Amino acid sequence: MEVIILDDPAEIGSLAAGCIESLLTSKPDAVLGLATGSSPLAIYDELVRRYEAGRISFARARGFTLDEYVGLPPEHPERYRNVIDTVFVSRVDFAPGAVDGPDGLADDIPAACAGYEQAIRDAGGVDLQILGIGTDGHIAFNEPGSSLASRTRIKTLTRQTRMDNARFFDGDLDAVPTHCLTQGLGTIMAARHLVLVATGRSKAEAVHHMAEGPVTAMWPASILQHHPHATVLIDDAAARRLQLADYYRETYRAKPGWQGI
Ligand code: F6R
Repeated sequence: MEVIILDDPAEIGSLAAGCIESLLTSKPDAVLGLATGSSPLAIYDELVRRYEAGRISFARARGFTLDEYVGLPPEHPERYRNVIDTVFVSRVDFAPGAVDGPDGLADDIPAACAGYEQAIRDAGGVDLQILGIGTDGHIAFNEPGSSLASRTRIKTLTRQTRMDNARFFDGDLDAVPTHCLTQGLGTIMAARHLVLVATGRSKAEAVHHMAEGPVTAMWPASILQHHPHATVLIDDAAARRLQLADYYRETYRAKPGWQGI
């Protein structure tokens, strides 16, 4: 796992977007794994800027989102299909239908989850997966206790996650769904490159457990320690609990520019 601590949080967006630009340059039909939430917004804004500047195109790319609330009506603005459309997909040139997500309104949820796994496989797997991290250490909505080998399935959200996400529902905890469909940790681990972004003090404990704790279902993001190509982009506030912060900073400072992330 490469941990990169950046003084300027804006740099996180441009570094991740640069990585996606390189991928699309070498593989225009790349498969991107898209996260929702606030952490990736700077990446999407920077990708839109590069698209508008004519540097990149998503016309041949595919996208798969990580997760979806169960039961939100199709027009609900917090339904993740709508969120990813608003913050990213509709602002660039993805082909119609090129971005897929788990169906939180499916009648047969196990079949919908199996179908989603199959769709990712049929697309050739995810080349680059963007991730955020929850304050309880979840990635996608794999809450503490999730099987480290899990695949797309229904999960119950923890009270902590629902409280964290109430800000998207006018602060109304009761309006936050109790269940979601989420890619599993095994699904996420199959992506070829994982890029996790985290900013702010509230993420510091989860970032510490992810990067420096034992690999445990209690801190689901710690499974990234087993991934051959995981990049963690964080700001100073999210890095404040890291024991090896100075080492990560020195390593990144000394890294040759051509090496990329
Ligand atoms: C959302 C997702 C979640 C978020 C996490 C952090 O698709 O997968 O794991 O990444 O809850 O959310 P933010 O970025 O809003 O702090």
